[in-house]
Amino acid sequence: MSSGSCKMHILALLSCFVGILLVSNLTLASANLKVGFYGSTCQPAESIVRRAVNRAVSRNPGIAAGLIRMHFHDCFVRGCDASVLLKTVPGNPPAEREHIANNPSLRGFEVLDEAKAQLEFICPNTVSCADILAFAARDSSLQVGGINYAVPAGRRDGRVSLSDEVGQNLPPPFFNAEQIAQNFARKGMSVDEMVTLSGAHSIGVSHCSSFSNRLYSFNATHPQDPSMDPRFASFLKTRCPPATNGAARDPTVALELRTPNRLDNKYYSELMNRRGLLTSDQTLSDSPLTSKMVSDNARNGAAWGAKYARAMVHMGSLDVLTGTQGEIRRLCSVVN
Ligand code: HEM
Ligand SMILES: *[C@@H]1O[C@H](CO)[C@@H](O)[C@H](O)[C@H]1NC(C)=O
Repeated sequence: MSSGSCKMHILALLSCFVGILLVSNLTLASANLKVGFYGSTCQPAESIVRRAVNRAVSRNPGIAAGLIRMHFHDCFVRGCDASVLLKTVPGNPPAEREHIANNPSLRGFEVLDEAKAQLEFICPNTVSCADILAFAARDSSLQVGGINYAVPAGRRDGRVSLSDEVGQNLPPPFFNAEQIAQNFARKGMSVDEMVTLSGAHSIGVSHCSSFSNRLYSFNATHPQDPSMDPRFASFLKTRCPPATNGAARDPTVALELRTPNRLDNKYYSELMNRRGLLTSDQTLSDSPLTSKMVSDNARNGAAWGAKYARAMVHMGSLDVLTGTQGEIRRLCSVVN
């Protein structure tokens, strides 16, 4: 709010105070994390993560997709506390990693492990796995999308990871725009942020099982999803034959076919061409709630990139542990 709107009469003045309270509250909430958090305690922290990511992504650009997705799956389930990295302890309930949304598709774990090993060597017990993941998602976005942003840090690592909590918090691929918007709203994220971050589906792949219902078993009268370009559907059927539908083999297809390894706004123009891979993608350009956002993002890549950076920082602040909460894990896959 501009200070100009704080002149006016008494009612406006009241709403102005409320505005100031809200703004200062927001500042407090994000003040728990700080850009340059490791400046004095582990100066090379961010450059070590960047080097590990750069090496892995130049060998396999899919790793960038994996790390960006992993940050999302971490933050939406119990906050950004690296709970997604914990392995199931025998005798305990299954961890997040075991959930069908993460296993077997989530990738990039070894890059985080490598960065963590180097960091434990030069500054032991200092850099959290949750921060390493947040840095890695940023570094991935920079390397495959040229999108850079400062990552507020100071997250601590959680000690709990439950597979059951994944399904309760992550949206499934068959959700429509209204349902995904509701899911994001529960995390305090706006519809525009939801549409903006869905642009991460500009890179990486999906297994056929995440969308094959759209090709073969849409509903009682339409085996094929009528919201999908029929030529696109024909192509997908060659990649995802019906035999693999439910069977052991589950091939993958690029989420965005024009520039599958480039994080850019072509995802949105593909949606407008009815070439969205998942129901949760296509619905964004078909729903009146989000269609305007899709066409705006398709038109203005720079504006989308700036929004993506802001939304990633917001997502990276969800329900974080800070101060003396949680711990700094020594190994990202097990609690201390
Ligand atoms: C909006 C709701 C979302 C839904 C329903 C959703 C669902 C999915 C599904 C089903 C896959 C494919 C998994 C597979 O079959 O292998 C996928 C992949 C991916 N998702 Fe999402 N996602 C959503 C939002 C996001 C967000 C917010 C991000 C990150 C900011 C993201 C990043 C990615 C990336 C990069 C991949 C490719 C991963 C890889 O190639 O390893 N997604 N998503
Ligand atoms: C199947 O989907 C189409 C297109 O969305 C819709 O018009 C039709 O009513 C649906 N049929 C059934 C039986 O649900």
